[in-house]
Formats: sequence, C-alpha cells, structure tokens
Amino acid sequence: MTGTVRGPAGTGRGTPLLELQGVGKVYGESGLSVAALRGVDLRVEAGELLSIMGPSGSGKSTLMNLLGCLDRPSEGRYLLEGRDVALLTDNELAEIRNRRIGFVFQTFNLLPRSTALENVELPLVYRGLPAAERRRLAREALEVVGVGHRLTHRPAQLSGGEQQRVAIARAIAGNPGVILADEPTGNLDSRTGEEIIALFQRVNRELGVTVIQVTHDLHRARQTRRIVRLRDGRVVDDRPVPEAEFVAAGSGDAGAAGNLDAGAAGPAAAAAAGAGQTPGGEAR
Ligand SMILES: Nc1ncnc2c1ncn2[C@@H]1O[C@H](COP(=O)(O)OP(=O)(O)O)[C@@H](O)[C@H]1O
Ligand SMILES: [Mg+2]
Repeated sequence: MTGTVRGPAGTGRGTPLLELQGVGKVYGESGLSVAALRGVDLRVEAGELLSIMGPSGSGKSTLMNLLGCLDRPSEGRYLLEGRDVALLTDNELAEIRNRRIGFVFQTFNLLPRSTALENVELPLVYRGLPAAERRRLAREALEVVGVGHRLTHRPAQLSGGEQQRVAIARAIAGNPGVILADEPTGNLDSRTGEEIIALFQRVNRELGVTVIQVTHDLHRARQTRRIVRLRDGRVVDDRPVPEAEFVAAGSGDAGAAGNLDAGAAGPAAAAAAGAGQTPGGEAR
C-alpha cells in the first residue's frame, strides 16, 4: 500500500488530523434558531489541500469556525488530532488555536497600527517566545511569502495582496499543522488571488501544512486536491479533484508569480528546517 492520502474515501489508517462526526450547529434560541450545520461528517488527513464550496449561507464559515476551535458544535463530535474538542478546557483550546492552527481571512485582519513584522510576531508573543527568537521566525515567514522587503510597513501602506501575504506569514510563523482560510482571495483581483493560491500550494507542498480554504470559485477550488460542497448545512459532495483537472496556480503567469518561484525552495526549506538565512529581497 502506498502512502497516498485519499481524504474523501475516509479509509486512511491512523488518526486523521481533523474529524467531524455528525456535527450540527444551531445559532440562536428556539423559535428564532438557525441550523447552520446538520449531520456533518468530515475527515481531513494531515497534508491535505482542500476547498469548501457552497452557496452563501450554506454553513461554510460556521464549519471553518468549528474546525478552528473558535466555536463549539451544538451536537456531534469534533476530534482534532484524535482529541475530543468538547473535553478540552478553554485554555487548552486557546493553546491549540495558537500553536496548531493558522487563520487567514477575506479581510486580512491585520492590526492597523502594527508593522508587518509586529503583526506576524503577535501569535508568537502569546506563546512566550523570547523577542529575538520571535523576530527571527517572523522575518523568515515574511521572506517565505515574498514580503521580506516590507517588514516595517503598516497594513495601510501595503497592497491587498501584500496584506494577505503578511496574514499568511502570521499563520505559518508558528509552524501550525493546519491553515484555515475563509475566502482568502475574495477581496483580491484575480491575478493577486492567483499568487495567493500559489502560495498556499507551496506552503502545503514544501512545509507540509494542511490547507483548507473556502471559495466560491471553481477555478480556485481546482487549484486544491479535494472539493467538499455544502448546501443548507449539509455536505452534499466530497471528492478529489482529478489529476487532469488540478491546476497549478501561477503557471504561465511569470509576471505575477515570478517572486514566488525565485528561490522558492530556499526560504521555504529554510523555514521548515528552522534555519536562519534566507535569500529574500527579490520580491517585486
Ligand atoms: N452568529 C450567528 N448567529 C446567528 N446566525 C448565524 C450566525 N452565523 C451564521 N449564521 C447563520 O447560519 C447560516 C450559515 O452561515 P455561514 O456559516 O456564515 O454561511 P456561509 O459562510 O456559507 O455563507 C446562515 O443562515 C447564517 O445566517
Ligand atoms: Mg462565509
């Protein structure tokens, strides 16, 4: 048997990274309540790159919030690396969010008064790392995502694409197991969106980070390896993207993707290995 991960079949051995069993989520009180998720079963193996699709209101963000331990299921079980999230204390959940999960949002969610470097450092501050160490990790992460030349810029001084890169640097700096990205390209033009997806593909491939993105766009979804579709809070489809349909992001768009490709293996591999020096500097 090969080690190939086939998420949707759910037949992988060992403990999945994430597993939802019959998960439901109800908002509000009886009478006015909304069932945002119903009976959701989902299994995600470590190292997957997958998309969640579905119409507006189908429960995609609710699902991401549950997966990210930002909220708890109303029913069913959520096992994260084999641990039942319902049994964890608030402190344990906060610790997991800080160490194991990186969040990326449509609106970037950077602190406006902080520099790129400070934004990326922040989760590492909560982790209690010494200043020099967190600065090194933050700088490396910014170099990996191609904004090593924007360390002291504040969000308003950065383009949307650069802000999203900073957000991704913040997500990867702490070496998370999984990145949860809710419509990460929703506020970006298509070329910039392409660069961001290329970056996710690289982070997944070279750093081994599991990436789950929400997208409305089938083209973007085909840039991942598996598509889970929601409708009215239920999973209505869950299948791998056939190899022939998979799209490597950024290919054939040298202008946009050049800074990603240049020295890509270097910084990413260095970050993965925890090494210090990265070339950087060639970003536009
Ligand atoms: N905090 C909330 N309180 C009440 N209802 C909510 C809340 N968040 C989402 N909902 C409702 O749950 C359903 C799913 O929402 P959401 O997960 O945001 O969908 P999507 O991200 O697919 O657009 C919608 O009907 C939405 O109105
Ligand atoms: Mg949403």
